[in-house]
Amino acid sequence: MYRSAKLSTKTRGLEPWMIVLIVIVGLLITGLIIGLLVHFLVYDQKLDYYHGTFKISNAQLDGNTEQGYAYHYKDLREMSEILVDETFMDSILNKHYIKNQVIKLTPDTDGMKVDVVIVFQFPFTERRETREKKIHNILHQKIRNTRALKINVSSLQLDAMSSTSGKLTVQSCCGKRVTPTIINRIVGGEMAPKFAWPWQASLQHNNIHQCGATLISNTWLVTAAHCFKNYPSPRGWTVSFGTTIEPPLMKRSIKRIIVHERYRSPAREYDIAVVQFSPKVTFTDDIRRICLPDASDYFPPTSTVYITGFGALSYGGPSQNDLQQASVEIISNEICKQPHVYGKEITFGMFCAGFLEGIYDACRGDSGGPLVVKDSKDTWYLIGIVSWGDNCGRQNKPGVYTQITYYRKWITSKTGL
Ligand code: ARG
Repeated sequence: MYRSAKLSTKTRGLEPWMIVLIVIVGLLITGLIIGLLVHFLVYDQKLDYYHGTFKISNAQLDGNTEQGYAYHYKDLREMSEILVDETFMDSILNKHYIKNQVIKLTPDTDGMKVDVVIVFQFPFTERRETREKKIHNILHQKIRNTRALKINVSSLQLDAMSSTSGKLTVQSCCGKRVTPTIINRIVGGEMAPKFAWPWQASLQHNNIHQCGATLISNTWLVTAAHCFKNYPSPRGWTVSFGTTIEPPLMKRSIKRIIVHERYRSPAREYDIAVVQFSPKVTFTDDIRRICLPDASDYFPPTSTVYITGFGALSYGGPSQNDLQQASVEIISNEICKQPHVYGKEITFGMFCAGFLEGIYDACRGDSGGPLVVKDSKDTWYLIGIVSWGDNCGRQNKPGVYTQITYYRKWITSKTGL
């Protein structure tokens, strides 16, 4: 009795400020819950991954031209991606379609089999079966009517993928990056944005940056042979990833250095090496491999290409902690072999890039690093390795690069890639 009487007096005595406080806390909690719900239901829509396969019946890869058209691997891949893009971009799924990526092209009986990952984003209200049906129907209808490539409609297959395996498949593809391709316009270059060049690596000896290198798989790098002139054994060598040398995003030790067997310093021919590190890296937004072109691919003079590296900003200057980038142009052999440029110094397996006016160029410390180009689908290819140059950024003395297509078979023979 006594106790309950006391309690009731207390309740009656609840002060106004307490009530206000309780109401405010209550409102805050409700607001938070609504906010979280909106976030998860509206903004955090999961990506949906699908694995599609189809057969192109009138296409073959070049070098295999008994029937149909012969394409370069890169072109056929690009055409297939454009086909899938167009299929969904002018369909009712237009708003939900994100992108597609061809992951494999395999020669098949009378044609090519295409494996593609297709990515969508649907609102949470749409049922899984409904969306799968829609995707399937659109693919069937549109592909039947394509002109450019002859698709065998009965070969069409579509399976949903788990988002983990979808994401991993897309990330393990070569030459893709997450930053949109804005190059604002090394020597004369500027600082590279994060995620822009995820294949760039720094080769270090006793933790001192020596050369650039390019990631071509989860364990192999391509670089220049002359980087190993002073220290030929893997001992003491490490590779780091990320857009800064310090702190590095990730570091690995070098297990194997394979310098081209015909490289003889100070000659500049055969300036290529492949390097294996361990353990393997897992691809993420900031560490990815680049695509290698086919031996038969051709990149014409005046094409815009990009060079990146931690090298000096001027001749004789120190290496940089922040990755630098510059946009340059391929220079024809005809121009580069003129006597007032490099004359007979340009031999097989080399090409020039930069500008005869100078300014934009690679420099010491950029050696071994990438010269890259992107195709119309924003897939990036390694086409050159920074090799040599007379001084840096001088008039009529552009950078000289090891030509990847010339050594493409050598790379396969050493790495299987
Ligand atoms: N060989 C130099 C190095 O060891 C890089 C040469 C590039 N020079 C140039 N002007 N493009 O880093």
